[in-house]
Amino acid sequence: MSNNLGLKWLLIMLTVFGIPDTGWGLPWDKDMFNQPSIKPQETDVSVPLSSVPVAGEASLPVPQTIGELVAARIAASALVNPVAVTSGSLAEGKFFYQTYCQVCHGQGGRGDGPVGKKFVPPPMDLTLTYVQSQPDGQLFYTITHGSVVMPYYRDAMSVEERWHLVNYLKGALIQP
Ligand code: HEC
Repeated sequence: MSNNLGLKWLLIMLTVFGIPDTGWGLPWDKDMFNQPSIKPQETDVSVPLSSVPVAGEASLPVPQTIGELVAARIAASALVNPVAVTSGSLAEGKFFYQTYCQVCHGQGGRGDGPVGKKFVPPPMDLTLTYVQSQPDGQLFYTITHGSVVMPYYRDAMSVEERWHLVNYLKGALIQP
């Protein structure tokens, strides 16, 4: 009797563990995890090769390296700002600055916002000549694609809204 039980166990153990992995595909619980979906906290920043801008605006290249970022930002100098600097545009720009940028760059643009204090490197002082002397297109590019550690805002603002923000950054921001 006890011999029979021993044989049964042996058979069960052989069935469960003796069959090669290929037949079992263990571990089952991980199979669904390994798939090409975008997981929480991940983002797919690459633009598919055949994509066409739906608003008919120029589509800017998405940089993959810092070198590409710098080159693309300089190339964006050629973009012409289609939005005139009016008090209405500056008011719009101020709204978007306060909504999206102030947390890091601070109320006066000096890079001293509460979230910015956690950043290494710290947020750029936007009142510096380095920023203020940049052509509008370069600032538009930075808002659209972000910078080295700064996030991008192309999803948050329409093209026109980004140009309002550029108008605000150039000059209006640094008025007392
Ligand atoms: C989460 C923090 C954070 C937010 C929010 C943020 N920035 Fe930045 N920004 C940074 C940091 C950090 C740098 C400097 C390092 C780098 O270039 O990434 C920077 C750099 C810049 C630069 C200089 C880029 C250059 O030419 O070298 C500009 C211009 C700028 N930010 C504008 C903005 C504007 C406009 C917004 C709002 C749409 C904004 N930032 C929102 C963190 C932030």
